[in-house]
Amino acid sequence: MAKILVTGGAGYIGSHTCLELLNTGHEVVVFDNLCNSSKIALERVQALAQKPLNFIQGDIRDMQALDQVFHDYKIDAVIHFAGLKAVGESQKIPLAYFDNNIAGSLCLVQAMERAEVFQLVFSSSATVYGELNQAPYHEEMPLGMPTNNYGYTKMVVEQLLEKTALANPAWSIALLRYFNPVGAHKSGEIGEDPQGIPNNLMPFVTQVAVGRRSKLAIFGQDYPTLDGTCERDFIHVVDLAKAHVLALENRLNHTGCRAWNIGTGKPISVLAIKNTFERVNGIEIPFEFAPRRTGDLASFYADSTRAYQELNWKAEYSLEDMLADSWNWQRKNPNGFNP
Ligand code: NAD
Ligand code: UD1
Repeated sequence: MAKILVTGGAGYIGSHTCLELLNTGHEVVVFDNLCNSSKIALERVQALAQKPLNFIQGDIRDMQALDQVFHDYKIDAVIHFAGLKAVGESQKIPLAYFDNNIAGSLCLVQAMERAEVFQLVFSSSATVYGELNQAPYHEEMPLGMPTNNYGYTKMVVEQLLEKTALANPAWSIALLRYFNPVGAHKSGEIGEDPQGIPNNLMPFVTQVAVGRRSKLAIFGQDYPTLDGTCERDFIHVVDLAKAHVLALENRLNHTGCRAWNIGTGKPISVLAIKNTFERVNGIEIPFEFAPRRTGDLASFYADSTRAYQELNWKAEYSLEDMLADSWNWQRKNPNGFNP
């Protein structure tokens, strides 16, 4: 069992991963500046796991704070979630994204090298496949130029990690390319808690369901897909969290840099999300069709064969589970982690 530093561990995917790590017997040290999360999530993780974790409030751009963590705890490996993730915001304030996501990752990797900790799992995104590749995406495809600055930061960090691992064979790095994470832990105690108006589909749907928003706007109905709305590969956040534990355990026994897609491989349309949410949860979602959103691709979904073959990972939760669990979290926590 290993001692894992989890940057951004208080966030949506990080909190679910901390719970899986504790449940599989690992020790967890969370490092998070709480700019987009709440300490309450970590209290709930500890209550669910019935095990403690260590929490340090800090910023990954703060070299001294990072050195201190590696000095104070005997860290075996790092899972790196910390960063900013709002696509629209990344177009307005790109420097904040370059600073947090690129410079922050660089600070972390340098601190790891100083501490001689060489095992790293990095949160990447399917967005690195860019516009030109055709779904299903597989890891051998050349990276494309992402359509936005957020995606660009993921591509840059992937590349700098690959080059770092090439230069020094001590490194062992996993690049996990997530598709569209949704859902929440079955307990409804932890889940996604976006600040302000949600950009992403699922939190928007659940906020309409709970009465915080009046109706869903479906962006575009004339895409070349079966029902004319965009198709995405939605993945339950607990399946995603489990992929991190498996990738981490793989990295403890391998060197080099390796990418894995983490998705179900099934394209689901935006309209199907709305309709299935209504059927599964018995709640009507008022909606209207709206113009296409700039930068959206018609259809993207994963080929996750490599994750199955090499990590023994595959998605276990169904679409119905994702929609029921998203709603269970929102219903129990109408204002997220805010009282
Ligand atoms: P999140 O915002 O819930 O979690 C990110 C966490 O990082 C937050 O707790 C935040 O407070 C912390 N953080 C941000 N900047 C920091 C900094 N400079 N120093 C320390 N902590 C900092 O987001 P999430 O959905 O859990 O995403 C986690 C990771 O996965 C991110 O890197 C994101 O880009 C990536 N990702 C997310 C999605 C998605 O749809 N949610 C898809 C692909 C990739
Ligand atoms: C977006 C980002 C992607 C990022 C991911 C996770 C873009 C182009 N891509 O993916 O880089 O990794 O979020 O943060 O922004 N939709 C609606 N109405 C809404 C919200 C969304 O119809 O109110 C539609 C969108 O048009 C899209 C689908 O739902 O077709 C999914 O959208 P979203 O949840 O934002 O994820 P992506 O766009 O796939």
